[in-house]
Amino acid sequence: MWYKREHIRVIDGEYTAQAYITTDQDDNQITAFHPGAMNFAHENRIADADGCTIGLVSPDGRQGMIEHAEQFADADIPFVFDPGQGMLMFDGDNLMRFAEQATWLAFNDYEAKLMEERTGKTPRQLAEMVEAVIVTRGGEGSNIYTRGKHYVIPAAPVSSLEDPAGCGDAYRAGLLYGLMNDMDWETTGRIAALMGAIKIEQAGTQNHSFSRDDVEARFEQAFGFSFV
Ligand SMILES: Nc1ncnc2c1ncn2[C@@H]1O[C@H](COP(=O)(O)OP(=O)(O)OP(=O)(O)O)[C@@H](O)[C@H]1O
Ligand SMILES: [Mg+2]
Repeated sequence: MWYKREHIRVIDGEYTAQAYITTDQDDNQITAFHPGAMNFAHENRIADADGCTIGLVSPDGRQGMIEHAEQFADADIPFVFDPGQGMLMFDGDNLMRFAEQATWLAFNDYEAKLMEERTGKTPRQLAEMVEAVIVTRGGEGSNIYTRGKHYVIPAAPVSSLEDPAGCGDAYRAGLLYGLMNDMDWETTGRIAALMGAIKIEQAGTQNHSFSRDDVEARFEQAFGFSFV
């Protein structure tokens, strides 16, 4: 297993960002959030991370998101723009700027609608600007739009529905894995979907775990082909 825990900055006198999320079985959420040290995210610079080949700009301090996207673009490092709850901090012009800089865009269905309201662009139209737009739809699966192509990715079967919070991030782990291993969209989307399915069977956002063998076997069982 490969872990890297460098570039973690301690901001004296600030709490770690804290979120309290209440979610019901229909995926309705109420969030209470304190950003704390997250507001200093821009003090971390992409150039400090040697050998970085792919990035993800997800909810963070506003200035951090803007500067990290700029730094990835300047360094020609492809990145996923994944604004999540951070979307509300940006207007249509800000969001279009991110879309110009990013290589991929990732949203859930609600965020994709908000993106459309603010920029006037549907996922299909945004897919003309980037390599792919990924829109997740909870238990309905996900849609991946590339220029002129639309992949419908089913959800993976689940044994129980414990807690949907964190499925979005679990899906993104699979997405990054597929991108880093040059996999096609049909396969990448399904690995991502399986990560979401494994997550939803556990309470809490990061309490699930699995082995590579489990994932390979479960993938084949769910989708009828092997990704290895
Ligand atoms: N009920 C479910 N059954 C099977 N898979 C699911 C279910 N809910 C979510 N998933 C998987 O996880 C992916 C991401 O879920 P979702 O669209 O709910 O993300 P999100 O709204 O960003 O979640 P989060 O609460 O983590 O922000 C889905 O596209 C799907 O593949
Ligand atoms: Mg989400």
